[in-house]
Amino acid sequence: MTAHAYLAFDRVSKRFGEVPVVSDTTLAIARNSFTIFLGPSGCGKTTLMRMVGGLDSPSSGVIRLDGNVITEPDRRRGMVFQSYSSFPWLTVEGNIAFGMRYRDDLSDEQRSARVDHYLKLIGMTDFRRSYPNRISGGMRQRVAIARTLAAGSDVLLMDEPFGALDALTRERLQLELRQIQREEEKTVIFVTHDVEEAVFLADRIILFSARPARVLHDIDVGAVLGPSRTLEVREGEAFFRLRNDVLHMIRNETGDHP
Ligand SMILES: Nc1ncnc2c1ncn2[C@@H]1O[C@H](COP(=O)(O)OP(=O)(O)OP(=O)(O)O)[C@@H](O)[C@H]1O
Ligand SMILES: [Mg+2]
Repeated sequence: MTAHAYLAFDRVSKRFGEVPVVSDTTLAIARNSFTIFLGPSGCGKTTLMRMVGGLDSPSSGVIRLDGNVITEPDRRRGMVFQSYSSFPWLTVEGNIAFGMRYRDDLSDEQRSARVDHYLKLIGMTDFRRSYPNRISGGMRQRVAIARTLAAGSDVLLMDEPFGALDALTRERLQLELRQIQREEEKTVIFVTHDVEEAVFLADRIILFSARPARVLHDIDVGAVLGPSRTLEVREGEAFFRLRNDVLHMIRNETGDHP
């Protein structure tokens, strides 16, 4: 386990006042992997993500990235949330460049090359001069992902990022995100309530209990579906079997809908 402990939760607990929200969680997450956090509403998933982001700290235990205890936000850990967090007064390319505002190590040429690279990656080169209120919700989430990548984040913390999108846009973004994660070799932690989304995206699903969150199941999706995720995978028998297994685990053990 230690060999893969790129991102390590070591006996992490969190209380808000008297209320325990996360209970003694130990987890080791491998570099360049896609991990889904699944669990009942209010169980503590966002709290876990905020602690990885450095926006909140554990009441006891530590979270380490590459061996270093996380104490504050850092550009190496980027967050993408459900609500569209783009700046309406900046264009698409302005929003992506904004992610690099603290990168003193980059020259102007490097900055504009990175903007071009990530615009292309999200398929939005033609929209570079558009403003966020003139593009769709799916496009805005693409811009949020590109901004985080341009900032240089190795770890993407995504809290229900596709929750507000229609089914087709959501499916397209799932395919794209999975491809981006592999090509750019990112470590993704992704929270969702949607079991199909979870099984389709994940190398691994961590199923949490109702509050206070503790790990109920650690499901190796990669071992069943392999690394490549296509629409064919999504329509295959292995996918549906696993989806049903996960739904059963949720019904039996959390006593709740995720
Ligand atoms: N800053 C805070 N102060 C006090 N209580 C908090 C705070 N943040 C979260 N909580 C409480 O902690 C619990 C877990 O919240 P959290 O947002 O982490 O859950 P979640 O799993 O993300 O839920 P959902 O699936 O609905 O997004 C909730 O009961 C919530 O009310
Ligand atoms: Mg949440």
